[in-house]
Amino acid sequence: MSKGDVLVQMVGIVKRFPGVIANDHVNFELRKGEVHALLGENGAGKTTLMNILYGLYRPDEGRIFVKGEEITYHSPKDSIRMGIGMVHQHLKLVLPHTVAENIVLGLKEPRFRLDLRRTEEKIRALAEKYGWKIDPRAKIWQLSVGERQQVEILKLLYRDADILIMDEPTSVLTPQETRQLFESLRKMASEGRGVIYITHKLDEVFAVCDRVTVMRKGRVVATKRVSETDKQELANLMVGRPVLFRIEKKDVRPGKTVLELKDVKAYSDKGFLALNGLSLNVRSHEIAGIAGVAGNG
Ligand SMILES: Nc1ncnc2c1ncn2[C@@H]1O[C@H](COP(=O)(O)OP(=O)(O)OP(=O)(O)O)[C@@H](O)[C@H]1O
Ligand SMILES: [Mg+2]
Repeated sequence: MSKGDVLVQMVGIVKRFPGVIANDHVNFELRKGEVHALLGENGAGKTTLMNILYGLYRPDEGRIFVKGEEITYHSPKDSIRMGIGMVHQHLKLVLPHTVAENIVLGLKEPRFRLDLRRTEEKIRALAEKYGWKIDPRAKIWQLSVGERQQVEILKLLYRDADILIMDEPTSVLTPQETRQLFESLRKMASEGRGVIYITHKLDEVFAVCDRVTVMRKGRVVATKRVSETDKQELANLMVGRPVLFRIEKKDVRPGKTVLELKDVKAYSDKGFLALNGLSLNVRSHEIAGIAGVAGNG
């Protein structure tokens, strides 16, 4: 590996909030062409570290190098100039505006009609390259959550960001959308970009990442090649003690029904049908699971 392959180097980063050290002397490195997982439980300090890289927070201590150049940020404007882009845990698009308007929002380009048309063409081509069907003239509120996330990513690619931070991007996606996202991230990495992939889901580390940095209680506990570790080791590192994936349980004979829902319909406060004819029952002696993607009721 040559020196030019290092996109980001964070050294000894410390960030304190009242009563908690969110980042405790953290070292982190991102290389060209890799998807690098930042893995940790809730509150481990992952988002804080990336908010620092993106220029949203200032570190109390530590140094940051981007493509070999030491930087002291004042705002995300500075990090965007350095090629850094972040898709946040909660998407931040302007709903009544179009895809193209959202993408050029905040850019210094003039917004004449002709320019907007050219912008739309560029966006269409960019989306196609990653296998997405996005209409640049669609309004954001008309798009699914998965498509909105694609718009957020297009916004970064449009600015030619080569350091992409994705904060728990699959929590709002269907399995199909998740597969699509993984394919596009691999493509971005193959183009020589670096992707930082924040997650607490072990399967995703193995599905899409090349290296993994594990955080626990504000500290980095390990950085590994994904090919040289396994789920058990990562789980133990993340939690700080051996983790059991299988809980010993005997087959139970469920008893009588204690809760029964029959054909339940309910409207959300936005007026759409949130539950559409749902039936389920729960019996004594059992733990009943309910599975589904966020936003499905
Ligand atoms: N702006 C803030 N003000 C005060 N405390 C904060 C702030 N942001 C984060 N923290 C605290 O810092 C610690 C690390 O939080 P952080 O959001 O970085 O964790 P995370 O690893 O991203 O967790 P999650 O998986 O829940 O997103 C937590 O204890 C959190 O409560
Ligand atoms: Mg977070």
